[in-house]
Amino acid sequence: MSTITAFSIEGMKGRRSIYALTNESVISDERIEEIISEVIMHTPSPFNCQSARMLVLLKEQHEKLWDLALEIATATVPPEQLETLYKPRIALFRAGYGTVLFYEDPASLKRHGELRPMLIDKLPEWSNHSSGMHQFALWTLLEAEGLGCNLQHYNPMIDARVSETWNISLEWSLKAQLVFGKPAGPPREKTFEPLAKRVFIHGK
Ligand SMILES: Cc1cc2nc3c(=O)[nH]c(=O)nc-3n(C[C@H](O)[C@H](O)[C@H](O)COP(=O)(O)O)c2cc1C
Repeated sequence: MSTITAFSIEGMKGRRSIYALTNESVISDERIEEIISEVIMHTPSPFNCQSARMLVLLKEQHEKLWDLALEIATATVPPEQLETLYKPRIALFRAGYGTVLFYEDPASLKRHGELRPMLIDKLPEWSNHSSGMHQFALWTLLEAEGLGCNLQHYNPMIDARVSETWNISLEWSLKAQLVFGKPAGPPREKTFEPLAKRVFIHGK
């Protein structure tokens, strides 16, 4: 499926969590950059404030991120959790080709909060919503190109070291990490809750 048709029901069904990845890509780095640029341009944000920021790490830079995550986990996580959970998972992510780190820049929203004091409490939540939309859009589009992806949350554990290593403002808020690479296995089996418990239509 091309990205042109990705935002369809089929494209949404094609977006799955793929954990078995190799350090190859099925598309060029230029194509990855193009898709990321389109996503950040065209995904909505509150008041069109465009608060999303993305740090994209490929190849050895991607490996450096997960080496750093392992180093931090080794220093901070209880030994048993480190061995059974963190080490094997971080090794899976490191085996991939790249990671996109999704940030929100609160400074972009500040001006809108000042103009609309009655909404000021809502803005952090809406910023999170917008970040989730970016994550979903990019996840769907990269998988439509044949890449495999999974979504991780090693924030806030990695925030300070990532900011220091890649010169990212400490004011930005790290929301999620999308790991990607060439799929080396299928997604896990998925079950679905009955729709009758989840959708309520009146007036049909
Ligand atoms: C907001 C959100 C947070 C998630 N956090 C993680 C995570 O930290 N680690 C992980 O492996 N998967 C994470 N996932 C992936 C979900 O577990 C996964 O999407 C879900 O089980 C459905 O499987 P699918 O992605 O294959 O459709 C997250 C998904 C969402 C939407």
